[in-house]
Amino acid sequence: MTIRMSRRKFAVLSGAALLAPPALAQTDASLVTRAIPSSGERLPAVGLGTAQVFDTANEATRQKVAVVLQALIARDKLFIATKLEEPDAAELKRSLARLKTAQVDLLQLHNVRNPRQSLAQFKDWKAQGMCRYIGITSTFHGDFAAIESVLGREKPDFVQIDYSLDERTVEKRILPLASEVKAGVLTALPFGRGRLFRAVRGKEIPDWGRVFADSWARFFLKYLLSDPRITAVIPGTSDPAHMTDNLGAMRGPLPDADQRLRMVAFIETL
Ligand SMILES: NC(=O)c1ccc[n+]([C@@H]2O[C@H](COP(=O)([O-])OP(=O)(O)OC[C@H]3O[C@@H](n4cnc5c(N)ncnc54)[C@H](OP(=O)(O)O)[C@@H]3O)[C@@H](O)[C@H]2O)c1
Repeated sequence: MTIRMSRRKFAVLSGAALLAPPALAQTDASLVTRAIPSSGERLPAVGLGTAQVFDTANEATRQKVAVVLQALIARDKLFIATKLEEPDAAELKRSLARLKTAQVDLLQLHNVRNPRQSLAQFKDWKAQGMCRYIGITSTFHGDFAAIESVLGREKPDFVQIDYSLDERTVEKRILPLASEVKAGVLTALPFGRGRLFRAVRGKEIPDWGRVFADSWARFFLKYLLSDPRITAVIPGTSDPAHMTDNLGAMRGPLPDADQRLRMVAFIETL
């Protein structure tokens, strides 16, 4: 993917994910933005995860990708997050070359499994200016204990974790620790790889939900964004209309505590 970037960046690109309309974030005070805890830098709260839907050889999908990016990017300013499986210098070099940049905004260690995993190399790369922030990721619940160990000991700037309206395990174990160590949180799989849309197929948004969400995507994303510990959601999409839909979750009211409980009760009845 060819991405033009200027020095200031705002979107979140993860594994090939991109992001949010920075220009909007700067000019529209009503958009939901969040401060990165370790720096105070503000990001638009909706980005784009490209790890699944963009990883395809299908030409029609690849052509749609360019339009998705146009829907997302008001200017050529992106906050780019990428991931490495290991602290492997050669792989980082290849990744930077593919992204056509000397620096990514966020460099994440992907799928942390070892509770003793060191982030020393990632910290060195940050000191050398190859990334501005470092993070860790996992969507494997069996590895959450390892994530907690590394998060608590190494205190990365970000943790990227599985969180959606119908998969709320992290509310009890990862989010409190992230808050304690001042790590920003990116939610991977905010739609459970589309599982949530399948659960509500043929159903209308209830009236009490229409107060804050006029589409199911916004309903699902606003549940996540109404938790102040969430820095950004990074849903995947290869559909430009869906990208615009998802970005709309940054507008209008967010559900309050009572409405959040109602959302959980609603999804649990399906
Ligand atoms: N360990 C890790 O670090 C890890 C693991 C997994 C995922 N992730 C991150 O999470 C990101 C998202 O994961 P994902 O894409 O697999 O799952 P997802 O965001 O939960 O769901 C994507 C699915 O939702 C659909 N969708 C998106 N917006 C929609 C809308 N407005 N209306 C209806 N359908 C919509 C997409 O279809 P369309 O294409 O038709 O829109 C796609 O099928 C990845 O790109 C990656 O960055 C990280």
